Amino acid sequence: MLNLIFQAIWFILPAYCANIAPVFFAKALAKYNHPLDFGKSWKGKRIFGDGKTWPGLISGTLVGGLAGFLQSLTLIQPVSSLQLGLLLGFGALTGDFVGSFIKRRIGLARGQSLPLMDQLGFIIFAFLFSLILIPFNWKYFIICLILTPVLHLGTNWIGFKLKLKREPW
Ligand code: CTP
Ligand code: MG
Repeated sequence: MLNLIFQAIWFILPAYCANIAPVFFAKALAKYNHPLDFGKSWKGKRIFGDGKTWPGLISGTLVGGLAGFLQSLTLIQPVSSLQLGLLLGFGALTGDFVGSFIKRRIGLARGQSLPLMDQLGFIIFAFLFSLILIPFNWKYFIICLILTPVLHLGTNWIGFKLKLKREPW
C-alpha cells in the first residue's frame, strides 16, 4: 500500500512542480507578466484575471517537463519522461486556469479561494492530459485526489504552528 502511494506521488510529481513554479517565475518575470486573457473581460468579468499569466503557463509547463526528464534519469518506477512531464505540467496549468475561469464566472475575485477546485482542478486535468501518452491508472488517480487536500491541510497547519498563517486551514 505504501509502495502504491509512493508510485502515485512519483507519477504526479511533475504536475505539482508545474503548479508551484508560476508563483516564483511570475515574481522573477514581473516585467513580462502579460495576463493570459490579455486583460479582456467576458460579461463584465475578467476571463481568467491577473493571477493567470503567460510566463506562469510557460514556466510551469517547462518545469513539469524538466521534472519528468529528471525523474526518467532515476529509472524509478513508474518511469517518467520529458514528454509525460510536459503533458502533466501543461495539464496542471490548464486545470489551474479552467479553475480561475469558473471562479471569475461565479464572482470570486483574484486570490479568493474556492475549496477543492483550487486543490483538485490541476490534478484532474494533469491526469486527463496524461491520457495522450499512457493509459488511465485509477489507483493513482484516487490516491492523488485523497492525498492532495490532506497535504494541503497539513502544510497549512504547519504554517499555522510556525505562526506564518492566522488560521490552521
Ligand atoms: N501565476 C501566474 N500564471 C499562472 C498561474 C499562477 O503568473 N498561469 C502566479 C500569479 O502571480 C498568481 C500566483 O502565481 O497570483 C498564485 O497562483 P494562484 O493561486 O493560482 O492564483 P490567484 O492569484 O489565487 O488567482 P485565482 O483566483 O485566479 O486563482
Ligand atoms: Mg489562489
